[in-house]
Formats: sequence, C-alpha cells, structure tokens
Amino acid sequence: MKNILITGGSGFIGTNFIKYAYDRYKDWHIVNLDVLTYAGNPMNHMELAKDPRYTFIHGDICDSSLLKQLFDKFKFNGVLHFAAESHVDRSISDPEIFLKTNVMGSFKLLQAGLDYVEDSGTSDFKFLHVSTDEVYGSLGAGDAAFTEKTGYDPSSPYSASKASSDHFAKAFFTTFGLPVVVTNCSNNYGPYQFPEKLIPLVILNILNKKPLPVYGKGENVRDWLYVADHCDALAEVFEKGVSGETYNIGGGEEKKNIEVVQKICDLVDEKTGAVKSSRDLITFVKDRPGHDLRYAINCDKIDHEIGFTAKHSFEQALSQTIDWYLGHMDWVRAVQTGEYKKWINKQYS
Ligand code: NAD
Ligand code: TYD
Repeated sequence: MKNILITGGSGFIGTNFIKYAYDRYKDWHIVNLDVLTYAGNPMNHMELAKDPRYTFIHGDICDSSLLKQLFDKFKFNGVLHFAAESHVDRSISDPEIFLKTNVMGSFKLLQAGLDYVEDSGTSDFKFLHVSTDEVYGSLGAGDAAFTEKTGYDPSSPYSASKASSDHFAKAFFTTFGLPVVVTNCSNNYGPYQFPEKLIPLVILNILNKKPLPVYGKGENVRDWLYVADHCDALAEVFEKGVSGETYNIGGGEEKKNIEVVQKICDLVDEKTGAVKSSRDLITFVKDRPGHDLRYAINCDKIDHEIGFTAKHSFEQALSQTIDWYLGHMDWVRAVQTGEYKKWINKQYS
C-alpha cells in the first residue's frame, strides 16, 4: 500500500478528489489532514469512517510537530496539498488567515516533506501543490490565455497568498531538490462546493427566492472546469508530471458571469417547473474591489505532455451540479448550520 497525504480533503475539491482516488487507486491508503474550517465537512466521507484505506486526522497544516508525527508514522509516498482559505471575498474582508494558512501552512508542509525525504533518504516521494489561475492576474478581452510562462500578477489577498505558496513550492524544488509539481487551475464547480461561491450560491438563492447578487455588470469572464475533470487532471499530473514543472488546467469554457447566472436560472426553472422566471431575481450589486476582468487558460502543455483534456461540457455538467444540490438539501443545511460538528465530537473526542 502507498500512504498518500491529502490536505484539505474535507473541502470541495479535496472531497471530490478523495472519492475519485479511493476508486481509482486500490493500493492507496489515504490520510486526510483537515482542520475543518467553515469550508470543511468530514461527513462528506462518512462512508469511509471505518475503512482501512482511509484515515481522517483533525489537524492543522501549520502545526509542524503534528506534521512530523504524521510523516514519521505513515512515511508518505506522496502529498496532494489542497488545504487553503479559498474565497476571494473573505480574503478582502479578513486577509490575515490567508497569509497564515496558504503561505505559512504550505511552507510548513513543504518543510515537513523535505525533512522526511532527507532523513529517510527515500526517492519514492512526490508533492503536488494545488493552485489557481488567479495568480496570473487579469486578462483583457482580447488577450491571449495564460500559459505556464505568464508572469505572476495577483490582485487579491487570496491570489497573492497562493502566488507566494507557488513560489515556495518551486523554490523547494530548485534549492533543495524536493520533487514538487504545481498545478494552476481555473474556476471549479460541482458537488460539495460551499455555497458562498457563485454557482452554488445562485442555485440555492433561486430555490429560496432570494436576490442573485451579480457584481458590477456581470461582464467578468471565468473559465469553468467541472470538478471531476480537475480530479482526473490532478491524478494524471501526480502520476506523470515532471518535478519542478507547472501545469495549467482549464475547462475551455469561458463565460461571462451574467451568462452563467442566467443559465442557472433557466435550468433550475426547468427542473422545478417554476412558473415565474428566476431571472427576475438577478440583482446587480457593487463590484468586488480589485475584481479581475477575465481568466482564460491555455491547456496545450497538459494536453501534449500529460495527455489530459477536460471531458465535460459546461451545460451538461452544470445541469448535473444543479441536480446534485436539489438532491442534497440535507448536506446544504449541515454545512450552513455547522451541524456536522456534533458528529466530529462523537467520532474524535
Ligand atoms: P475549500 O475552501 O472548499 O476547502 C479547503 C479545505 O481546506 C477545507 O476543508 C478546510 O477545512 C481545509 N483547511 C483550511 N485551512 C486548513 C489548515 N490550516 N489545515 C488543514 N486544513 C485546512 O477549497 P477548495 O475550493 O476545495 O480548494 C482546494 C484547493 O484548490 C485550494 O488550494 C484552492 O486554492 C485550489 N483551487 C480552487 C479552485 C476552485 O475553483 N475552488 C480553483 C483552482 C484552485
Ligand atoms: P467566485 O465563485 O467567488 O470565484 P473567483 O472569485 O475565485 O473567480 O466568483 C466567480 C465570479 O463570480 C467572480 O467574477 C465574482 C463573481 N461573483 C458574483 O458576481 N456574485 C457573487 O455573489 C459571487 C460570490 C461571485
């Protein structure tokens, strides 16, 4: 068995990745290290609670002594590092935790990985640092898409903290030879996304007949990637990626925010048999400060060197995502109320 450390495995993408990896890699023992912020829900993996191929550790990536204990005990063959503060709006209202988790936490994890590799002399180790396209900054309408050679130009405290952690990850390869790969991915959507991000927020507000807040004029463009495609890409990069390299990951689905919101309205209306159009709930609100106009990803490198291309179309996967939320209102209530904390106390006290 290979021991694989997944940080932030109770958040949105980490949850999807653990489910994906559990099915794909029968020789993996997955250790999920998650401190369970508002965005982490351990009930996402309730079915694995007693499974010998899964271990949940309730802890912080900033805790060096815990990291050392875990590396000593499990002798990890690899790390996939998802844990982060991930919401741009929160980074504007409270930036400091982004510095602590995303920069210091990533640094401590890299250091723990390096200490383990140096002490054990192992050559069987890989570190995948999961990052975002937001590190590249904003594109104009006609600009060429981000490549792996695009200079970093982050706008928000969130993207600045991720950019910093990417530089540390690369520096640990260049300076110490730690086998690190970095992925920079576009906006994800799909099951288990905390309903503060655009797509789940809009779905749930429509169901609750609440206003649908669109920042500015809704002209900002994002490239949308279904989370299952992201999981596929990460697995392929973890297996085949070259140490020290960066791989951009995108869905090839650039959309203006207003188009996304209108499409969700129409799909939810169709599925729920609404008589009145939910588009009437769209409300243009004050723009986010420093709001990047456009993100777009050039996927040539991952396509040619790793053999990955996204398989899901936006329209089809958005429809599946809406179906998931419609069928999981108990999950939505649990994350909104923090109800799952009772369950943690029972399991881990
Ligand atoms: P998320 O906010 O849904 O989940 C983050 C998880 O990390 C939560 O479970 C949280 O409890 C955990 N966590 C936070 N601080 C921690 C700490 N100090 N120690 C241990 N665990 C901690 O985030 P997400 O959307 O799943 O994003 C995962 C990763 O992917 C992040 O690194 C993010 O930057 C990156 N990313 C996200 C997107 C996206 O669209 N969501 C796109 C590209 C890259
Ligand atoms: P978000 O899901 O927060 O992801 P990111 O900021 O990381 O791209 O937002 C996606 C886009 O939607 C972004 O341009 C901001 C916009 N947005 C709104 O217009 N209204 C909202 O309520 C939210 C949360 C986002």
